[in-house]
Amino acid sequence: MPTDLSPIDKAKYAAARRATGYVESGMRVGLGTGSTAAWLVRCLGEMVRDEGLRIKGVPTSARTAQLARDVGIEVISLDEAKWLDVTIDGADEFDANLNLIKGGGGALLQEKIVATASDQMVVIADISKQVETLGAFPLPVEVIPFGWQTTKTLIEETLIGLDVLGRSTTLRMNGERAYVTDEGNHILDLHLNRIGNARQLSLVLNQIPGVVENGLFIDICDAVVIGFGDGRVELRDIHKGSVEESRFDFFEADNLFTDISE
Ligand code: 5RP
Repeated sequence: MPTDLSPIDKAKYAAARRATGYVESGMRVGLGTGSTAAWLVRCLGEMVRDEGLRIKGVPTSARTAQLARDVGIEVISLDEAKWLDVTIDGADEFDANLNLIKGGGGALLQEKIVATASDQMVVIADISKQVETLGAFPLPVEVIPFGWQTTKTLIEETLIGLDVLGRSTTLRMNGERAYVTDEGNHILDLHLNRIGNARQLSLVLNQIPGVVENGLFIDICDAVVIGFGDGRVELRDIHKGSVEESRFDFFEADNLFTDISE
């Protein structure tokens, strides 16, 4: 029931629900990964079922693909879609310019490819993801397994000359083993504390052999829908320079999903 949701889940749900306003019948939609994006997928599934919404979804992970199918969304590959009308995804951090850190859920590579192949990328997030300067959240970097320790050393040495506050890097684990992405790669989390020049850092990291992609999304996101625990929603559009506020009334929502396992 609506009242059973924690404030953070209310915030995520409200943001996801508002972001469905970007989706119309006939669209090809990039579907993000993570707990906030999972709310969106469920909302869209409900609209497919109850309102006759016709969309083709391009998921950004195996997890999202499974969820999308489960809720009745037609799933196609990016190559089938070729180009998308909109991608809606979560984020680990966003700043005032709507630059992002993503990859906390390990799906940054597909997420970046899909978002970049879209007319519009909309981020959905609770207010805790807003930061003045990126970098408190460890920056995920996807690296190929071959020689990953050498790649790690190269990254740490490269960071010496860059505008960051920390340089330690850790291999992401899944229990006792290294985490493996959908593409069969590993993830190094960079504990930078503060990223002074995100654009430069992103470019430099991607020059290092062994690095596949990093979790900085620079000039990719067009709008952010921010949810608050009381159901308030704020929509910021970077191109229009506009801020729009609305409120989601949880007590009127009789169709909220009870399964929030993601
Ligand atoms: C996955 C991501 C997620 O969008 C990001 O980690 C936010 O997740 P959540 O909505 O669960 O907080 O980048 O790779």
